[in-house]
Order: sequence, then structure tokens, then C-alpha cells
Amino acid sequence: MIDVVAFDIYGTLIDTQAIQGKLATLVGEQAPAVTRLWRQKQLEYSFRRGLMRDYRDFSVCTRDALVYACREFGVTPDEPAIERMMAAYAELDAFAEVADSLQRLAAGGRRLVAFSNGSRAAVERLLEHAGIREVFAAVVSVEAVGTFKPAPEVYAHLCQVCESAARDVCLVSGNPFDILGAAHAGLRSAWLQRDPATQFDPWGVEPDIRLASLDELQARLDALQ
Ligand code: LAC
Repeated sequence: MIDVVAFDIYGTLIDTQAIQGKLATLVGEQAPAVTRLWRQKQLEYSFRRGLMRDYRDFSVCTRDALVYACREFGVTPDEPAIERMMAAYAELDAFAEVADSLQRLAAGGRRLVAFSNGSRAAVERLLEHAGIREVFAAVVSVEAVGTFKPAPEVYAHLCQVCESAARDVCLVSGNPFDILGAAHAGLRSAWLQRDPATQFDPWGVEPDIRLASLDELQARLDALQ
């Protein structure tokens, strides 16, 4: 029986693409493309640091990726501009349905946990800003393990903190690599397809649940038991 529902944060509950309005002040109409590259590079840097066993706070990956993405589009941001973007990234909003949907899930008796590459402090701040901190029983960060998703150790750490067996934990994520990481570590998984254009990696592994909105989650979890 699923007793813990763990939520990925960036790109799942929190809308990382929404930064493009702020980024437009720096890179103009290239903002949508720079935003996409920024996110891709941020994840790539976390994967590479994981493989190199050179862990740094996720905000280092975010900052370095911002500079890289701007430069690829011909803009070299100065320190105040980087600080402005990082400050905006620290207070991004949640997707529209998130607050109500999580409230209903929590009221239904499930234990909700936030689970992120972001540091605990950064995730606490984001959730507070989005007004959804109180629905979570815990905030679990990879920083306690010193590596990033999708290393199996970070999913094992999540289960350990929750004192639950892997098959009793369902990870909800908008990031296919995270779903594959969770499945590989023995967790159940729900892929939230935030963008209809996103393809699920063709690795021969399917998420237990596919969602177009968090509002579908409760019924789908009930059916999974
Ligand atoms: C996170 C990244 C993967 O929140 O989006 O962990």
C-alpha cells in the first residue's frame, strides 16, 4: 500500500519556465530558448557532478548553467544580473493546480513529502513562498547524501527518512529521468507530463501512473493499491 507520496519540486510543483519573464530583461526575445537551455544545463551539471563525485549545492549547478546558457546566446551576465536571476529562481511560483490539489491529497490522509535536488533551505523557501509548505510532513533533500538524482542512494535515503519500504513510496515527478531513477530504486512512480511535447525516455520502463494534472493523482493512487 502506498503510504508516502513524494513530490519532485522543480518542474513538477514549481514552474521553472516561468523565469523567462525575468530573463527577458537580460536576453530579450531569446528568453524562452535561454530558459530551456538553462534548465537542461542545470540538470546536466548535476548529473556530471554526481558522476565526478564532486557534489556542490544545487544552486551552484543553477548559477553555472545560467551563465552558460546566456553566453551561448551571446550575453555575458554581470554579477548583479546573476544575483537578480538567482533571487527570482528562489521564489518561483507553483503551477496553478498545485495548492488545491495537494490540500485535497493531504486531507485524504496520505503522507506527503517534498523530495528534491535543491538544498533543504532552498526548498523550504520555495514552498513557503508558494504557500504550500504546511501540506508536507517532511522536506527531504539530496544534500544529506551528497549526490544528485538519479543516484540510487538518494531514493534509498528518501525511503529511510520516511521509514517506508521502497514499494510503499510513490514518487510524483515531471522529470522522466527522475521517474526512471525512482523505478530503478524500487519505488512506485507517477509521471506528471507538464508539457504535451515532452517524450518519456524509451528505456523499456513505464511509470506506474501517467498524469496530465495533479488533480488526477488521488483517484489513480487509490486504483494502484
Ligand atoms: C528536483 C529537480 C530534479 O527538484 O527538479 O529535484
